[in-house]
Amino acid sequence: MTDLDLIEIFLLVTRWVHAIAAVAWIGGSVLFAFVLRPVGKLEPEAMGRIMPHVGRYYREMVDISVVAIIFSGLLLTLDRLADEAATATYGAVLGVKIGVALLMFIQMWNLRQSGGGAITGPRWVQKFSWLLGYNALVFMGVIVYFLANLLGVLFDDALRAVS
Ligand code: HEM
Repeated sequence: MTDLDLIEIFLLVTRWVHAIAAVAWIGGSVLFAFVLRPVGKLEPEAMGRIMPHVGRYYREMVDISVVAIIFSGLLLTLDRLADEAATATYGAVLGVKIGVALLMFIQMWNLRQSGGGAITGPRWVQKFSWLLGYNALVFMGVIVYFLANLLGVLFDDALRAVS
């Protein structure tokens, strides 16, 4: 086995970790926003008992996923930007992707500080609270996922053009 093979295997594992962690985080947010929260409204007492436990394990899973996403994302970025197929468009889309990912990290932090509970404040803030809650996290996650796929297409296109 050559050195190149080892590097390729390392990058394959890195890509795999990145994708799995992304799926775990976004999938977890979807479950939270569209399953657990509505059930909480139907069965507030039962969910009140269960949610602290769910929240504890969910938080651990998210923490591990976020650390994995950041480390693997940095490695993938270094690998991609070192390649001649990384065009200015690729760099711009990657910049937007990292920017939205940063907003997600901030949003997650805000939700934790508020305990993930009801958003207080003026009426209009409460009315649009979905924008500030898990729905926003899911929305941004879906955008980041799309941008990741777009990056793959841009990179493949540029590779074909240079070869
Ligand atoms: C919310 C956070 C993020 C999500 C959901 C996410 C999701 C993804 C997914 C699904 C892929 C495709 C993996 C595959 O090949 O199957 C990907 C690729 C990638 N991600 Fe992320 N990512 C996130 C954050 C980041 C961050 C913070 C960075 C950089 C620091 C990053 C850099 C990259 C790079 C460079 C690629 C390779 C794109 C290509 O194919 O050229 N990602 N990401």
